[in-house]
Amino acid sequence: MSKKKFISEVLKSTGTIGALSPSSSFLAAKMLEPIDFSKADCIVEFGPGTGVFTHKLLEKMKPEAKLLAFEINPSFIEELEKINDPRLIVINDSAEKIQDYLDQHHFTSADYIISSLPFAMIPDAVVHNILTNSDNALSENGKYIQFQYSLNAKKKLQSYFSEVRINFTFLNLPPAFIYICSK
Ligand SMILES: C[S@@+](CC[C@H](N)C(=O)[O-])C[C@H]1O[C@@H](n2cnc3c(N)ncnc32)[C@H](O)[C@@H]1O
Repeated sequence: MSKKKFISEVLKSTGTIGALSPSSSFLAAKMLEPIDFSKADCIVEFGPGTGVFTHKLLEKMKPEAKLLAFEINPSFIEELEKINDPRLIVINDSAEKIQDYLDQHHFTSADYIISSLPFAMIPDAVVHNILTNSDNALSENGKYIQFQYSLNAKKKLQSYFSEVRINFTFLNLPPAFIYICSK
């Protein structure tokens, strides 16, 4: 999907996208840095959009691993469904439903959750459900990795996860903070 089409989706959406263009490959690399791909059997992605992180994840994942990608925008779903990789499961539903879909695909937990969700644009009750369900769904050594454009999410994430480390990259528009959260 072109940047122009992405922007037209942003204008059509009611604030649920929360970005003006897809993330950079530099941000993608920082988001994936904490992942030990040799140990990741089940990776979950929230808000893949046009698939910037999805493609990078699939490049690095083991042949037998699975990626469950939750997206609510129908145009982005159409784009993601064009990715021809049997490891990718595209889910047209809200991130809140993570446990239902892990169960459906016979996973007891997720090893990593990679989230681009725009917390500032999502109602507090929904964010609460997403973070509670994510913490419950993570495996013992699992990590929840989230980017945001500010440090505002720090306190919130600290109230759901035992440890929150923060990384940063200038090489994205706008520059982004990467939160790496441990169960
Ligand atoms: C900031 S965009 C990120 C897109 C892409 N990952 C990137 O970094 O370029 C956020 C995405 O989250 C999706 N989204 C928003 N609320 C969601 C929800 N409750 N569940 C799943 N996806 C959601 C939006 O449709 C949008 O595609």
